[in-house]
Amino acid sequence: MRGRFEYAFIPSIAKQYRPRAWPVFLLSAGRGRSYSAGVDDLFKNPIGAATRFCAVYGQPIRHSGSPAMHNPALAKLGLDWRYLAFEVSPDALGQAIEGARAMHLVGLNLTVPHKLLALELVDALDESATTWGAVNTICFEAKTDSDNWTPLGQLADTPAGEIRAKGYNTDANAITLALQQDLGLSLAGLRVLLLGAGGAGRVAALKLAAEGVAKLHLVNRTVAKAEQLAHEIAERFSQTKVVVGYPKNIPGQIDLVLNATSLGLKPTDALPLDESQFSLANAQAVFDMIYQPALTPLLAKATDAGCRTANGLGMLLWQGAKALEIWTGQAAPIDVMRSALGSHIYGDE
Ligand code: ATR
Repeated sequence: MRGRFEYAFIPSIAKQYRPRAWPVFLLSAGRGRSYSAGVDDLFKNPIGAATRFCAVYGQPIRHSGSPAMHNPALAKLGLDWRYLAFEVSPDALGQAIEGARAMHLVGLNLTVPHKLLALELVDALDESATTWGAVNTICFEAKTDSDNWTPLGQLADTPAGEIRAKGYNTDANAITLALQQDLGLSLAGLRVLLLGAGGAGRVAALKLAAEGVAKLHLVNRTVAKAEQLAHEIAERFSQTKVVVGYPKNIPGQIDLVLNATSLGLKPTDALPLDESQFSLANAQAVFDMIYQPALTPLLAKATDAGCRTANGLGMLLWQGAKALEIWTGQAAPIDVMRSALGSHIYGDE
């Protein structure tokens, strides 16, 4: 899954486009301190023998914004931990998870293309992973004296004995949080047009249905995938009326258009929406899971059509914040993470 949570980082494009849904981030940016400064400058002590590690695995991975978001957060929490990024191919994912377990890493994030594969590779699945059918976070846990599994990151020392890899999904909740925070939407009862039925689209569709959207229109290039997803939703979430295809093109028809396709990442991409079938003028709000570029052609058109808009950066923030909470047992320093992402991706000061 290529993931709408992590995209190619193209600084030249980032500089051109300021995000529309970003003012809250700009306002709270870390006055006078750039979190994209050298990671070691953030920490009180340099890396030492006691330093602990977490990491993101993906392929490609060099674009990932996760280290830039997590390291300032770890420093803020006063933890002698570092967050790394490793390029791991799908056929090496099992070995890479085993290596992390053997070396007592605290946890992992998984991105493109590992989120489905990992379902089979971890020792235990949290309900979030089974509900949404994908793993984007692994927490390594040790069996403590009391016979409970405890995250390694919450133990001073790693006890001898069994360590297990437990898989979580923090992406699905991040969608709801981003829609709430960036567009002020609560989903129950809404009419939604969802573009895309790939990995990200599937999780979004299931989560929207679980939140009680009244009507869900699914549009995908490969219609059979949209139909299969519609079938799954009808079986699991009967309160949501699900339709494959565009809604009627009449005013006020749709509360939210959500782009979960990869169209918009490249400047040459076509619009993910067929405007001859549905006009953005008939939608209230548009959310694009892409955050790089910050202003996709879809969001630009939506703004011109008078819609409220937001890009996908909030999703990256919220999935990371939840992962950090799972590993540390502490509340994530959201403002620090937000500011760090703004610096890293959009060059905000
Ligand atoms: P991810 O896991 O990141 O969602 P994915 O599973 O490959 O990645 O899904 C990509 C989504 O973008 C799919 O909805 C895909 O449509 P198909 O299911 O028909 O492949 C959509 N997409 C990608 N390229 C597209 C294109 N050129 N035109 C239309 N849709 C496209």
